[in-house]
Amino acid sequence: MGNKLWGGRFVEKTDRAMEEFSSSFAVDRRLWKAELAATEAHVRVLARGGYLSRSEEAGLLRGLKSLRSGILSGAIPLEGDWEDVHSFVLAHLEKKAGAAARKVHAGRSRNDLVSLDMRLYLREEIVRLDSLLARLQSALTAKGEEYAGVVIPAYTHLQRAQPVLFAHHLLAYVEMLDRDRLRLRDLGRRLEVLPAGSAAAGGNTLDLDLKLMAGLLGFPKVSPNSLDAVSDRDFVLEFLSAAALAGLHFSRLAEELVLWSTSEFSFVELGEAFCTGSSFLPHKRNPDSAELVRAKAGRLLGNFTALFATVKGLPLSYNRDLQEDKRPLFDSVDTIGDSAAVLCGVIESLKVNLAVLKRLEDEDYGAAPDLAEYLVKKGMPFRDAHRLVGGMVVSLARSGCKLNEISIQELRKFSSEFDDGALKLLSARGSLRARAAFPGSHPGRVKANLRKWRRKLEAEGKKRGRG
Ligand code: ARG
Repeated sequence: MGNKLWGGRFVEKTDRAMEEFSSSFAVDRRLWKAELAATEAHVRVLARGGYLSRSEEAGLLRGLKSLRSGILSGAIPLEGDWEDVHSFVLAHLEKKAGAAARKVHAGRSRNDLVSLDMRLYLREEIVRLDSLLARLQSALTAKGEEYAGVVIPAYTHLQRAQPVLFAHHLLAYVEMLDRDRLRLRDLGRRLEVLPAGSAAAGGNTLDLDLKLMAGLLGFPKVSPNSLDAVSDRDFVLEFLSAAALAGLHFSRLAEELVLWSTSEFSFVELGEAFCTGSSFLPHKRNPDSAELVRAKAGRLLGNFTALFATVKGLPLSYNRDLQEDKRPLFDSVDTIGDSAAVLCGVIESLKVNLAVLKRLEDEDYGAAPDLAEYLVKKGMPFRDAHRLVGGMVVSLARSGCKLNEISIQELRKFSSEFDDGALKLLSARGSLRARAAFPGSHPGRVKANLRKWRRKLEAEGKKRGRG
């Protein structure tokens, strides 16, 4: 095992199996950029406090820079039997900058350092994931615009309920994704708290300018409590829970795509680039992309519950158990990112089966609630109107008659309050036009929502491009 940061009080060698068991380098090497950023800020603060000379500071900063380019170019591979990313960086820094590197760990511990690294890492990932979610929102909005006039049944209990616009259905996911993005950005505010100065648990005796350090790292706040700072993993759990929720939304959309692409539904066809075949059934074209997205939501929830269970019984402050936060975090970051990227492609290449949806438009009794409300507007109590239209549906269904096939005379047999206005409601499109009230699926409203989202997402995209 590479140079240990803690050998001094040990006489015996660490057991080989224990070394392998406790090493986290294979996992936490992913934090190397954050580790370098945190170390650079720490070096500057140590110099400000008079613990490093100007030339030591300059040499260390140069060393960190060269370490960064060495890792980026592959000249310094992130490999070897290091205990963790912290030991790796300090050992390599010593190779680059010499003995001054032995001063760098003053006033800090891996306990506050790892918490800082995780915060820096996650802050960046949140920005990347936010833009992926925005891309998915754009893909859904564009698909809604492509099929602007298309009507599909809205379901409750997986039974047809009311006709809505396909775009309205897609925009429901745009709203969900927006809350997912808000959650990510919101937890970003809570993770931007500097845990430095806490050292292992109870602080340090050096004179470190933590405000300067917070400023250098772009954190608005310094943690006021060292025990909390080293043992808090709320921000990781908040992320895992936000990722699980986003995954849940992905999964519901994926499930609908699976369902809609069955021969039984035939509402949509997934692009071939996002389907796979069967090794036995030559005719198959399976929606594996959507199935995998659906399944991965389970992993995302698993990651949340795994860390929740790990942290829930821990006494303050740092415990080595907390090292186990990284696998679930990295896995959720990857899983949610990869799922979003694949879903984008699935949505972009999605084709809607217009003939099937056209045929379905007026097949059911989706305008029934509008008819009942028509009577309400004429003064009939809703309960009575509901009963009357329910009876009407029974009698029409018995004679195999659809709503849009009946004449005004037949309609008036059920209530003399029905007139030409009621007749207009009986087609899916008439029903849609009648449901003008917020936040229904009125064509004008859906069109305005599509426009609103497109503009918002375009403006955000431009800002991101500039930023
Ligand atoms: N690898 C550890 C973690 O991820 C770093 C902190 C180790 N601290 C210690 N006292 N052993 O949490």
